[in-house]
Amino acid sequence: MDLEKIAFDRVIERRGTGSAKWDLAEPDLLPLWIADMDFEAPAAVREALIERARHGIFGYGAPAPSCDEAIAAWLERRHGWAVDGEQFCFCPGVIPAVSVLIRLFTLPGEGVILQTPVYYPFYECVTRNGRHIVENPLVFDGSRYAMDFDDLEQKAADPRTTAVILCSPHNPVGRVWTEEELRRFGEICLRHGLFVIADEIHGDLVYRPNRQIPFASLDEAFAASSATCVAPSKTFNLAGLQFSTIIIADRQKRERFRNELMALGLKRPNVFAQAAAEAAYRHGEAWLEALLEYLEGNIAFVEDFLARHLPQLRLIRPEGTYLAWIDCRALGLSAQELEGLMLHNAKVWLDEGHIFGPAGAGFERVVLACPRPILEEALKRIEKAVNSLSR
Ligand SMILES: Cc1ncc(COP(=O)(O)O)c(C=O)c1O
Repeated sequence: MDLEKIAFDRVIERRGTGSAKWDLAEPDLLPLWIADMDFEAPAAVREALIERARHGIFGYGAPAPSCDEAIAAWLERRHGWAVDGEQFCFCPGVIPAVSVLIRLFTLPGEGVILQTPVYYPFYECVTRNGRHIVENPLVFDGSRYAMDFDDLEQKAADPRTTAVILCSPHNPVGRVWTEEELRRFGEICLRHGLFVIADEIHGDLVYRPNRQIPFASLDEAFAASSATCVAPSKTFNLAGLQFSTIIIADRQKRERFRNELMALGLKRPNVFAQAAAEAAYRHGEAWLEALLEYLEGNIAFVEDFLARHLPQLRLIRPEGTYLAWIDCRALGLSAQELEGLMLHNAKVWLDEGHIFGPAGAGFERVVLACPRPILEEALKRIEKAVNSLSR
């Protein structure tokens, strides 16, 4: 069997499978909102899960050294990051990890920097834990986003601001940060003693010639004052299994993180999640390459469709992630009107730009990780709805 012969174009029914994306959507809505893929996981992952299920005994799991080895080998092979598996801490999800890291390495009332517009659950990780958000808005030149280093320096200089979340690659704007950007960012954080939470969950989904550079791999001092979150959940579409790895170089910080997870009763990986993660990291590379090629095809398809049929809308071409950030401001609609247009007229469920922060108003985030026929249907629905505006 050719394990990697995958038909990404095949539409697979997901309604009725307990899927957040599909089962929370009204039957007439086409969902392209939450960041998961409408593709089957790699065959090797499905085989590993079936094998584990066949064993029939599902008692408490223990962290498997072979899984850590697979993760370490993956990071070295894919990202040139030779990191000792000793530094790995299991956590079910990245978002719970971000919250725990904020609670451990900042004090109540302190500020945590977010580079906005950004993945909206970060806001709650900060505010629900009694810290406050300090915005370091990205600058947008009309086609590409960049970090505002002067503003970062200024915000970081406030002693009441003690941490920053680095979203790398960046959700929703699709930037893959360059080495130069990461070094500049890291130097500022070091200068002002900021703890860096590097969320690299999208790090495997990067389009050539861009290259994912793990923040902590650049400098020992960066590694010592940061925690990096990686997971197979975006890469291999395993988000529902809940498995992530938090990499913490500093021994004391790592122990504090592990102890906190113990205190929360979160020390044991789900046995299915771990089997799937290990199979994915060991055997999923060819599948990932095929996926990236398909996603690039989807990006090109959207770009072409917009140019031909919806020139008012503009795709901010992602360098990484399977997220399309689409500038709809030329339609001249308020955030509420734009949402109404998509949801009620076009009947597509997207993530509204403003939920990522005020600078996202007028943008839509579209998950591109679906068979092209679904993407085409969504775009046609949007075209029809937009055309109805001018009548
Ligand atoms: C940047 C980023 N971090 C974290 C998550 C979610 O991670 P988890 O499901 O492991 O909590 C997502 C999901 O879309 C994301 O885009």
